[in-house]
Amino acid sequence: VISISAGNHAQGVAFAARVLGIRATVVMPQTASPTKVEATRDYGAEVILHGDVAAAFQKLRQLEKERSLHFVHPFDDPKVVSGQATLGMELVEDLPDLDAVVAGIGGGGLISGVAWAVKELRPVARVFGVEPEGADTMFRSRKEGKPVHLEHTNTIADGLAAPFAGELNYRLVERYVDGLYRVSDDEILAAMKLLLERCKTVAEAAGAAGLAALVAGKLPLPPGSRVCCVISGGNVGAGQLASLLRPSA
Ligand SMILES: Cc1ncc(COP(=O)(O)O)c(C=O)c1O
Repeated sequence: VISISAGNHAQGVAFAARVLGIRATVVMPQTASPTKVEATRDYGAEVILHGDVAAAFQKLRQLEKERSLHFVHPFDDPKVVSGQATLGMELVEDLPDLDAVVAGIGGGGLISGVAWAVKELRPVARVFGVEPEGADTMFRSRKEGKPVHLEHTNTIADGLAAPFAGELNYRLVERYVDGLYRVSDDEILAAMKLLLERCKTVAEAAGAAGLAALVAGKLPLPPGSRVCCVISGGNVGAGQLASLLRPSA
């Protein structure tokens, strides 16, 4: 199999391939976090670092053809979305009186699965998606009325820097997601710091985006709402975390 990822889906694919005894190749942008690259290699996958996210997608398509590999899409795939939906199912099971769920958006796999499950099981709950200002593909897609591609993305939240919104993900977001919001990198950093200091939780930037929108007061939620922020990842190296959170940074 072959896939592409900033590093988290990569680890999932590498791990699953190892369990199944098959070979996995993952293309990642050259800027991929060393922690994620190392973990993916440790799970046994071949990692190819290539260009920026857009160039990495081209490389993936080339290798898929040349080596006749099966592409496991990081978000635009019904099975990936169904897997993400299990998170929504568990949330409603654990928190039956939930008022709202907030999650970050890259290509839209996570939010489309979570929103689908939550809205089907608890239609009164509201679902909000959050993107970095420098990678707001779904926000722009909703505005344009179709999934859009971005030429460049620019954010510290590498996990949310997909250069396009998935077709299936876009359709599900249009159907199930109540609002799309954008946060700055500074707002994301503030949420990472809050999680670290107050919750003793290490989140990577992509994982803290939902909380960033909440604490920045961007979400239309009445006081007292029972809100679940999905902290979707914590793959950040100690050195990277220290330099991100250093006061002068
Ligand atoms: C930490 C983290 N959060 C959220 C996402 C959401 O991704 P997507 O919208 O592409 O499913 C990703 C994707 O890689 C991620 O790494």
